[in-house]
Amino acid sequence: MFDSVLNSHCHMANRYDSCFLCVFMSIAVTSLLLCAEAPPAAVYIFGDSTLDVGTNDFIPGCLARADFYFNGIDFPHSKPTGRFSNGLNTADQIAVLLGLTKSPPPFLYLLNDPSTFQENILQGANFASGGSGILNHTGQVKMAISLEDQIKQFSTVRSNITNKTGNEEATGRILSKAFFLISIGSNDILEYLLNPAPPMSVLEFNATLLSTYAYHIKTLYELGARTFGVLTVPPIGCTPFARAVFTGNDSCFKPAQELAAEFSLNVAILLDNFSSQVQDMNIRWQIRFKNIAAACCGNGTYDCNQTASFCSNRDEYLFWDRFHPTQRASELAALTLFGASEPLVAPMNFSRLLGVNL
Ligand SMILES: *[C@@H]1O[C@H](CO)[C@@H](O)[C@H](O)[C@H]1NC(C)=O
Ligand SMILES: *[C@@H]1O[C@H](CO)[C@@H](O)[C@H](O)[C@H]1NC(C)=O
Ligand SMILES: *[C@@H]1O[C@H](CO)[C@@H](O)[C@H](O)[C@H]1NC(C)=O
Ligand SMILES: *[C@@H]1O[C@H](CO)[C@@H](O)[C@H](O)[C@H]1NC(C)=O
Ligand SMILES: *[C@@H]1O[C@H](CO)[C@@H](O)[C@H](O)[C@H]1NC(C)=O
Ligand SMILES: *[C@@H]1O[C@H](CO)[C@@H](O)[C@H](O)[C@H]1NC(C)=O
Ligand SMILES: *[C@@H]1O[C@H](CO)[C@@H](O)[C@H](O)[C@H]1NC(C)=O
Ligand SMILES: *[C@@H]1O[C@H](CO)[C@@H](O)[C@H](O)[C@H]1NC(C)=O
Ligand SMILES: *[C@@H]1O[C@H](CO)[C@@H](O)[C@H](O)[C@H]1NC(C)=O
Repeated sequence: MFDSVLNSHCHMANRYDSCFLCVFMSIAVTSLLLCAEAPPAAVYIFGDSTLDVGTNDFIPGCLARADFYFNGIDFPHSKPTGRFSNGLNTADQIAVLLGLTKSPPPFLYLLNDPSTFQENILQGANFASGGSGILNHTGQVKMAISLEDQIKQFSTVRSNITNKTGNEEATGRILSKAFFLISIGSNDILEYLLNPAPPMSVLEFNATLLSTYAYHIKTLYELGARTFGVLTVPPIGCTPFARAVFTGNDSCFKPAQELAAEFSLNVAILLDNFSSQVQDMNIRWQIRFKNIAAACCGNGTYDCNQTASFCSNRDEYLFWDRFHPTQRASELAALTLFGASEPLVAPMNFSRLLGVNL
């Protein structure tokens, strides 16, 4: 399974060194209108397993799941929740820094209780689905919910808000103060590279991926989204999966890194053009993780489950499983998004974008 990837990666040559890690995060953060003056009233989250907080638990037959041990081993009560992590994931860590009491729950979970649904959606909802992509067919065999369908779900949420407020203007005011967090694209690239006979050339793939992403961002804008946090695709060629399956000799896999870097750069250009405010950016962190190449649970070839072996020093690992960051790595990623200054975060950090103080 390659239910997407993490937000960080490393360039050190020797994985066994206790080394300085350079975590590179490519992130484009954009505020399409004015910055919010108060912390956002609502947070709506879209994307893949980097941000999924249990959506896929509610999809019968979905193959991209993490609702089993050892996932969640460091979550309260050691509970597997569907998060692809030993504990909190990046969506949770961002929610913590926003001062929210909890990370917005999955939309599919909120649907289960019609009596609280209308109230809950005013606080936000999480549509992210592990394994999904920008393109409709990405993650389809696993029954993940594509970005297109996540946005369709949001569109019904919007109509539910209007049902409550009584008019479009009031809904527009509510949504203009909300924060829209998106992290997607890794699965599109991995599926493309894993396909022995890709249906498109690299050039066509690049163009299709970008134009489809542009279309989705524009749709969200038309639905009322104004403040966006867009996490671009990290260099995915250095995951334990890529090292084991693509190269087989523990080196990072260059084609995946190149496609990811190219895509991330172009997404930033796209957002820049769209909002005339955004730049690409690179964040460098000097962090000590003892192990930056191996998965804590399972290994590059085998997924994490209750028969896998796992490490005890999880805070020293960058990777929880063969694709996803540990709770600690997600925390550092979120802190970077909120706390770094230009030129590391452009055009502004989440603290400034959303008017919150750390
Ligand atoms: C993606 O799927 C949706 C159905 O959920 C469909 O409406 C849309 O046309 C599809 N897009 C493409 C590009 O095939
Ligand atoms: C939300 O909106 C959808 C589509 O308009 C509708 O089918 C559904 O019944 C609404 N749910 C609630 C709880 O109002
Ligand atoms: C509006 O909300 C009410 C309950 O608050 C529900 O019965 C009705 O179906 C909703 N209508 C639409 C169009 O969502
Ligand atoms: C990828 O697509 C973007 C936007 O269409 C374009 O600017 C860029 O040059 C393309 N890159 C490659 C390698 O084709
Ligand atoms: C690992 O394998 C790749 C091709 O699969 C090759 O390009 C690379 O040079 C190899 N690296 C080492 C350190 O052997
Ligand atoms: C910028 O956006 C405009 C209008 O949406 C479009 O026509 C143009 O091709 C875009 N330019 C680039 C470099 O993407
Ligand atoms: C990966 O884990 C599987 C299952 O535990 C094991 O059989 C395999 O030898 C491991 N591979 C490596 C390279 O450690
Ligand atoms: C755990 O994963 C291994 C390797 O993928 C698989 O052989 C085994 O059946 C899985 N165990 C469970 C309980 O799912
Ligand atoms: C965020 O960015 C602002 C403006 O660039 C800067 O003053 C501030 O120190 C940064 N960090 C935090 C935590 O706000």
